[in-house]
Amino acid sequence: MSERIFIGVAWPYADGPLHLGHIAGAYLAADIFARYHRTKGNEVLMVSGSDQHGTPITIKAEQEGASPDQIAAKYHRQFLKSWQKLGISFDLFTTTGTANHSKVAQDIFLTLLDKDYIYKDTVSQPYCPQCQRFLPDRYIEGICPFCGSAGARGDQCDECGKPINPVELTSPHCRLCGAVPQFKDSEHFFLKLSVFTDKLLTWVKKQSHWRQNVLNFTRRYLEGGLKDRAITRDIGWGIPIPLPGFEGKRLYVWFEAVIGYLSASKEWASSTGDGEGWRPFWQSDAKSYYFIGKDNILFHTIVWPAMLMGYGGLNLPYDVPANEFLTIEGKKLSTSRNWAVWLDDYLARYQPDPLRYLFSINMPETGDTDFSWHEFFRRNNDELVATYGNLAHRVLTFTYRHFDGCVPVPGELDSPGQEIMKQAKETLDTVGSLLDGCHFKEAIKSAMDIAHKANRYLEETSPWKVIKKDRQASANSLYVAIFVLSCLKTMLYPFLPFSSQRLHELLGFKGKVEDYGWQWQELPPGQRLLPPEPLFTKLDEETAAEEAARLGHAH
Ligand code: MF3
Ligand code: ZN
Repeated sequence: MSERIFIGVAWPYADGPLHLGHIAGAYLAADIFARYHRTKGNEVLMVSGSDQHGTPITIKAEQEGASPDQIAAKYHRQFLKSWQKLGISFDLFTTTGTANHSKVAQDIFLTLLDKDYIYKDTVSQPYCPQCQRFLPDRYIEGICPFCGSAGARGDQCDECGKPINPVELTSPHCRLCGAVPQFKDSEHFFLKLSVFTDKLLTWVKKQSHWRQNVLNFTRRYLEGGLKDRAITRDIGWGIPIPLPGFEGKRLYVWFEAVIGYLSASKEWASSTGDGEGWRPFWQSDAKSYYFIGKDNILFHTIVWPAMLMGYGGLNLPYDVPANEFLTIEGKKLSTSRNWAVWLDDYLARYQPDPLRYLFSINMPETGDTDFSWHEFFRRNNDELVATYGNLAHRVLTFTYRHFDGCVPVPGELDSPGQEIMKQAKETLDTVGSLLDGCHFKEAIKSAMDIAHKANRYLEETSPWKVIKKDRQASANSLYVAIFVLSCLKTMLYPFLPFSSQRLHELLGFKGKVEDYGWQWQELPPGQRLLPPEPLFTKLDEETAAEEAARLGHAH
């Protein structure tokens, strides 16, 4: 029976380009999951979009002499291109700048207000007398009260990593003009998170299928008790508060960004011509998965679920398989110091599948993992090319040449041949169950294992030598190997969609891999193959040093 799977993926800030940390953190896993479920015949809705509000983008706009809109539009266009090149198959990648999103966010705000889950209160906020404006947390700078380093901001100190309240800063000043800020009263709205603590705890305790890190973080946080949080800001960029008297204020970026999952689902539904089409993904027994990096856990396992509980009638997350961080060449990724590999740079020089392979087999699922160019080249050459690519290429070129470009007609298969075919079929199920549980690394390892075994089988049976004495024996082992390849193109498809589709075609199958379902296919003897071509290319490992040397320099 087909299931409905909703997949929400973290909304990247549209204030800078994507880097490999984004991909390893959320986007690749989400895409693997979506492709797997689509192939299985499930109904999938995968959405995300550019997060175009918040202060970082206004700072960027001021630096570049552009408007926040222009900055957001520029990066949004880049994001769309990158998804296409990398094969991240969103059903919709929108932005938080749409009228639809504002409407949905304002509706949730007003409903929660109406239900008394949002209340008004007066707070003291930093205000710059010179600029005549309230200063968002990141616009106020001073000395860190904890470690004494200069350049701490109103939200945190980058040096010691501690969160800071603007009032706590020593010698505060306005980041724009340097003036000393005053503190002025301002009216704001608060989300009554405190009343959800127990309900959330009861719910979270039932989520035994969540990843350990997600579960532990969430439980620890809840056990400390939740504090109400301000969900509006003194800022001019963002979604207006739909009430008179709050013209200079906006909804806090995090409050409205998570609502994007719902508004994007509605936008998607309208675009298909069935405006109600979002409901089955939000109101039935559909499962919702949220793919995010670990820095976003709080908002997806606590804040968004609390908002959903308060609003009522919408599904809570089924799973939030948050990934840990990716380090780059052994060091913490830092965009400001350009210690990052930019996705567009990667895609300009390399194919998408080798990166997808590396991040699948080395995904920061249960702990941080490191990206190094050296490992990228090594895994491409030793695993993708040597194990899988060569298997396909050797078998297909030899068969094409010696069996008239067709799948050979097998005779009676010997037991090692039957055994490996059986294992390949079983591996499809294994990979499937691992993917069901969001165990991506284990899943691709199982798939690669069968490629290894097929190589060993070929070494043992040597169809290239045997053909001189026994053509049927050669046909038999080639048939077995081609059958294993036909299973591999399915089980590797979620991870390596480009090369899998290519292999599907080289094997003589029509249409899309997805159309054939998550199952092994009868391999018709005599099926016409396409002229073989290599699936992957060997890369020059010498380039690793050159690539690594680009890190840390001006972009
Ligand atoms: N823009 C946020 C970030 O990059 C993530 C937002 S996820 C959302 O950290 F759910 F809030 F949209
Ligand atoms: Zn100022």
